[in-house]
Amino acid sequence: MSRPDVSAFFDAATFTITYIVADPSSGRAAVIDPVLDFDPASGRTSTKSADDVIAAIEGKNLEIDWILETHVHADHLSGAPYIREKLGGKTAIGTNVATVQETFKNIFNLKDLATDGSQFDHLFADSESFAVGNIAGHIIATPGHTPACITYVIGDAAFVGDTLFMPDFGSARTDFPGGDAAQLYDSIQKILSLPDETRLFICHDYKAPGRDVYAWETTVAEQRANNIHISDSVSRDAFIEMREGRDSQLGMPKLILPSLQVNLRAGRLPEPEDNDIRYLKIPLDAV
Ligand SMILES: [Fe+2]
Repeated sequence: MSRPDVSAFFDAATFTITYIVADPSSGRAAVIDPVLDFDPASGRTSTKSADDVIAAIEGKNLEIDWILETHVHADHLSGAPYIREKLGGKTAIGTNVATVQETFKNIFNLKDLATDGSQFDHLFADSESFAVGNIAGHIIATPGHTPACITYVIGDAAFVGDTLFMPDFGSARTDFPGGDAAQLYDSIQKILSLPDETRLFICHDYKAPGRDVYAWETTVAEQRANNIHISDSVSRDAFIEMREGRDSQLGMPKLILPSLQVNLRAGRLPEPEDNDIRYLKIPLDAV
């Protein structure tokens, strides 16, 4: 099994991990889940996080094939358009982004938003094959957290987005529109049926009680043995009951409203108004 080089970038403001996945034999690479920094108090965006990723790519002389989103994130703005402008590469997400666009088009009243995913260069279907340089990859549709969630399997590594977290933290919430705990269970089983030694790279880490460092890499075998929500000893019904119970206690992510409006458009910011300033909307009593 080909083994890509994986570099991780942790964004402490949103607990997001961005990855560079590189094929050492060809010098070609993909970026997964890049972040555009955003301070909601001042409304300021910054490219500091994305610039760190770009500097690493340039430092290693890598060429970018893909800029991949595991899903429409609700906790950070995507840095994909900025990285694409600087380095090229095709942006991509799962085909079910259309469902997510349809849902939120109404909530944000985005009359001009196409709901066919055409803002992205490519939409991946379940089981579709692709490559990063000479390393073969394929898609596993892993809905549950959101309808559009997909896992990117690239050589011996799988980028699971918000499905599984580290074994001591568990699994992703399923209470966003279109989320479904039973679907998430079934999606996670697909990931856990990959070979035991498959490296799993998660999208967020919040530490866990008793752990004082952030972590983002685990394996199928570790998850099956130790995941506190969904190890091999947890039944489907028990998982669904646990997940729905926990979800009912969770508050909304701080950046959900800004993030969705931008990420539905593949990370493009809204067009400026006639005073040259861009605005985000805050729907009241709608989410
Ligand atoms: Fe998410």
